[in-house]
Amino acid sequence: MANLAILGGDKLVKEEFSTLFPQWPPRDEETAEALKKVYMDGAWSFNSPSEVEFEQAFAEYHGARYGIFMANGTTTLECAMSALGVKPGDEVIVPALTWMATALAASYLGAIPVIVDIEPDTLCMDPEQVRAAITPKTKAIIPVHAYGSTADMEKILEIADAHGIPVIEDCAHMHGGFWNGRGAGSWGKVGSFSFQQSKTMSSGEGGICITSDPELAEKIYLLKHIGYSRGVKQGQARKAPEGLLCHNYRATAFQAVILSQQLKNLKNLIDTYAANAAFLREEIKDIPGVRMQSPGRLSEPQGYYSCHLIFDGEPFKNIPKAVINEACAAEGFPIGNGTHGPVYNASLFNLDLAKGEYRIHGGRCAVCEELFTRTLGFSHNVLTHRSTMEKLSAVLHKVYANIGELEQYAAAK
Ligand SMILES: Cc1ncc(COP(=O)(O)O)c(C=O)c1O
Repeated sequence: MANLAILGGDKLVKEEFSTLFPQWPPRDEETAEALKKVYMDGAWSFNSPSEVEFEQAFAEYHGARYGIFMANGTTTLECAMSALGVKPGDEVIVPALTWMATALAASYLGAIPVIVDIEPDTLCMDPEQVRAAITPKTKAIIPVHAYGSTADMEKILEIADAHGIPVIEDCAHMHGGFWNGRGAGSWGKVGSFSFQQSKTMSSGEGGICITSDPELAEKIYLLKHIGYSRGVKQGQARKAPEGLLCHNYRATAFQAVILSQQLKNLKNLIDTYAANAAFLREEIKDIPGVRMQSPGRLSEPQGYYSCHLIFDGEPFKNIPKAVINEACAAEGFPIGNGTHGPVYNASLFNLDLAKGEYRIHGGRCAVCEELFTRTLGFSHNVLTHRSTMEKLSAVLHKVYANIGELEQYAAAK
């Protein structure tokens, strides 16, 4: 008689999985009222009071002086690079593990993304790989604070500063996170955040650049607002911005209102996530061969976009991660597919290497490729309740305790 549910044994988690955590994005009456007020006011865009209020509050939260609110977290990266003078043919260093937008934003400017490998514990850009990838053409470095871990900002900045290369932090996953006492996005010249539907702060779509440099703040604003400075009305005389190809990358007051409400609860949210992630870490530490993504040595508090479990081969009998996930799902807890594969494999990023449209430093990124095959992960909102983590721990313990059964199942597949 088999124990694992995948082989006909009793299912461990009896509740419907979707009832174990709040659905995302969050909704509440207070926000609905605030939205109604803006709707009736009619100040829907163009540097409206709701946008300005949110920009200031968000920047301040992360320790920066200025915020520039935008359409999404890809345009923010593009404008940050553009404001820093990245031009066609320049090189921009990005990590292998990221959403394709980080690299594509460089491509949009005609620059060449140079893809470097990640650290096996934090899953963030490996500073030593960055050091080795720098050439005279390198004009920006973009560490990504991946999922729930902060890239090593001191090491990356030390290397970047030694070469006079600006750093743009891609904080699309790191709302509210701090590294060594300073907010995410305030370490580099510019911090870029996304507010896309699944993010820890979400307005469906949206993004923001934060910076403490007034000149950069002005340039980024011009870039997103078709060349108008703050406060200049459409149709009013203005000075054409020199050398900047400006866009309409504006967001709306509605998004700002939603985000201002969420910002009030951000600290509480990520503290809850951190406590429950720490609980899970402790609960599963006796299972050999499964570890959680490390938050990074000076990350406190840690932001969370998702939570990742890395199955280190041998104790799990090298069973493919899809089969481990299948077994967990049969027990009532589908964990999820885990990290993206290396960015150079992303379908939209299928550029022509021969034409030099991107460059992978040092051959393929072996750490990223390997971890992709061994990582499962779930969205941040699954971290909301300790009782849900207790269930996940019980499922992992059960699967490990019956690993022989699962090995046979995998072999027969
Ligand atoms: C790491 C990272 N950078 C940039 C982006 C782009 O953000 P957006 O989807 O808002 O354009 C995303 C995700 O969506 C992301 O995960």
